[in-house]
Amino acid sequence: LVFVAFGFISQIDCNSHYDNYTLIRLHPSTVDHQKSVTEFSDPSGEIEIMKESRGVNDTLDILVPPGKMKFVHDYANTNGLKLEEKQPNYGRTLQDVSERLPRRRILDRFSVFHYNSYDNMQEFIEGKAQRYPALVQLQELGKSYQGRKMRLVKISTRPNAKNPIIFVDAGVHGREWVAPAMALYLIHRLTVDPTAFVKGGELDGVDWYILPLVNPDGYEYTRSSRSNRMWRKTRSKHGASHCYGVDGNRNYGFKWAVSGVSNDPCHKETYAGPKPFSEPETQMVRNVMMDNAKRMKLYVSLHSYGQYLVYPWGYTGDFLPKQWKKLDDMARSVSNAVERAGGRPFKVLSAGKWYPAAGGSDDYAFGAAGVPYSYTMELTEGHEFAFPEELLETVLPQFYEGFKEFGARIKAEF
Ligand code: ARG
Ligand code: ZN
Repeated sequence: LVFVAFGFISQIDCNSHYDNYTLIRLHPSTVDHQKSVTEFSDPSGEIEIMKESRGVNDTLDILVPPGKMKFVHDYANTNGLKLEEKQPNYGRTLQDVSERLPRRRILDRFSVFHYNSYDNMQEFIEGKAQRYPALVQLQELGKSYQGRKMRLVKISTRPNAKNPIIFVDAGVHGREWVAPAMALYLIHRLTVDPTAFVKGGELDGVDWYILPLVNPDGYEYTRSSRSNRMWRKTRSKHGASHCYGVDGNRNYGFKWAVSGVSNDPCHKETYAGPKPFSEPETQMVRNVMMDNAKRMKLYVSLHSYGQYLVYPWGYTGDFLPKQWKKLDDMARSVSNAVERAGGRPFKVLSAGKWYPAAGGSDDYAFGAAGVPYSYTMELTEGHEFAFPEELLETVLPQFYEGFKEFGARIKAEF
């Protein structure tokens, strides 16, 4: 009976559409504010952190249920923080965005400038492998918790040449739809753009390994109209808890759980899991890194939102790796390339100086797999997680220029 009751409760939770939730933005403007903003936490886990603040003049964006509005207002008053109610009834915004999708999607197949379903993505990469057999290889990595196939897309003009490898993954967080869209656009451009192959092009002398959707279960969960557009975690279950999911980007086995995590399986954002690599999805990414550690020179994990390009360490902001200048330098030239293409510049800093959070894939690549350049790239600014599909056409080509710069840099150094 207890379990039936729990099942019922989580059912309600799953159907939440954020009706009457308010998107609130807290503006720090002094060092004291900065401290209170980074320390903000909601023990009940009901308030969802949309974007952390990296300090003075960088906002904290949170999604607040009606019952928690007083708590947040009190917190802002006590700490002298400016509070902006950005969006009342956030549920309506999400509904507006998602209502447009399904009707069109029934007829549509894959398009690089759409938010595609997991199935359509699979069809797309299969099509690529069939059409360009000498260039594109699919490697089966295993299955997600709910049994979805995970396939690594390897793009190389000379797979036996022992080229340096650039590994890009995306979509470890379900709601961050722009990230897989970017990964697929990258596959698209690398396979159709003839200039990529000629001497000096993006494919000349580097191999690209792309895993476009690390968390397909969470992603599909955010697409279903009956569930939760703002879901971040995986969809696994552990132990006796009635709650679902682990934060895939807190689950890696390097300095696991030392900072910025929750130990509560019901925490909607940052539950680190019962142990490192408890999730099949993070195990598969780890295996790609470890199996190719010698040749892997760059790792980029795609997320949204906020237009950040951050490098290790992520678990601490107290110090930087001794090679930080090289990491910083490459990130700045990537940001410049995106800016030259008409895009916004990235905020470049170490992940831990933004906000410390342990168990991320970027730290694991850098600290455990020995990948010399490792980044988390937070795509897009504005519109939070509901980045409009119509704008993909504008921003994805801009970001692609950044990837060309990454390719050129790796080629030049290795
Ligand atoms: N938004 C990302 C997350 O919270 C940032 C991760 C940066 N890397 C890190 N190791 N903290 O997962
Ligand atoms: Zn993310």
